[in-house]
Amino acid sequence: MSLPVFPEIDAARAAWDLSSISLAEMDEAGLAQLRARFVSKKGEIPALMRNLGKLPQEDRPAYGAAVQTLRETVEGSLDAAEAAVRDAALTLRLERETLDVSLDGADSAAGSLHPLQALRDELLDLFVSMGFEIADAPELDTEWFNFSALNVPDDHPARDMQDTFFVERKEGEEPVVLRTHTSNFQPHAMRDRKPPFRLINCGPVFRCDADATHAPMFYQIEGVVVDRTTNFANLKATLYTMVRSMFGEKAQLRFRPSFFPFTEPSAEMDVDCRSAGLDRDGWMEIGGCGMIHPNVLRNGGIDPDQFQGFAFGFGLDRMTMLRHGAKDIFLLSAGDMRFLKQFRGLA
Ligand code: PHE
Repeated sequence: MSLPVFPEIDAARAAWDLSSISLAEMDEAGLAQLRARFVSKKGEIPALMRNLGKLPQEDRPAYGAAVQTLRETVEGSLDAAEAAVRDAALTLRLERETLDVSLDGADSAAGSLHPLQALRDELLDLFVSMGFEIADAPELDTEWFNFSALNVPDDHPARDMQDTFFVERKEGEEPVVLRTHTSNFQPHAMRDRKPPFRLINCGPVFRCDADATHAPMFYQIEGVVVDRTTNFANLKATLYTMVRSMFGEKAQLRFRPSFFPFTEPSAEMDVDCRSAGLDRDGWMEIGGCGMIHPNVLRNGGIDPDQFQGFAFGFGLDRMTMLRHGAKDIFLLSAGDMRFLKQFRGLA
């Protein structure tokens, strides 16, 4: 018995074979057209099924199976081709949308160090080159370290002189302040180690004060040197080196006698603006200094009969303003890009 021949199925298969020769190159729309033509409800393969009723009973199973085989072939090929098209589209999209975070930002503007930070780094480097060691001190400190250890008596107006921010404490707790100067570093430095030493500390200090040349938070740099014969000439030499490295070899300094409870003798140091290359006359005060008071050495656990030393504390904001001719101290903390952009490439 020969297998029944169904010419309409053969014709449909031949039509499919012909249409699907370039299946792999087809796009989504082409594939959708083929799917509509062969397997949609109104397509050629379902139409073949509708002939079933007209066939003799004995041919029906073979006919049905042949149509089903053709349908599976067609649907399988279309499914695979559609999946390939979707994959290719996804790959393409991923390639296009890739963000290469390793790009070096050649098109974006370079940032720069804040002028205050640049000066701080420069000064710390200089002091390290002179044998100083960088050390820390708390910004929130006890009144003892900020005042008492520094020979400032309890009822002394110097405690008000610095417009202190006192921190709220419970009854009986040790009074705490935001440090009003980096000089709180002096007793910490002395208690933490044995002399001789040369130490430098730089960081924020806080005073309840605000105008064009005073900000409630500003930066100071404090040096403490203790040895057996350390003297005022050493102090002057150190400060000359510092100022001339910043403002040039011609920069002139002057030391004015002054008073600080923690140094004796004490001086304030001014820089001559013209000689420092600045476009203005007069002197600019940048900080205080002096020989460390014996009481301060004693409070720091150092015998003043064996050791002596000097200390200095300078306003970094003042020096930055001087250096760049800035007139308002708040420019240094305002984050205004128009101001900050001017320092690109300087640091
Ligand atoms: N702490 C002083 C001030 O803030 C400056 C100073 C530091 C003076 C060290 C003498 C010695 O004004």
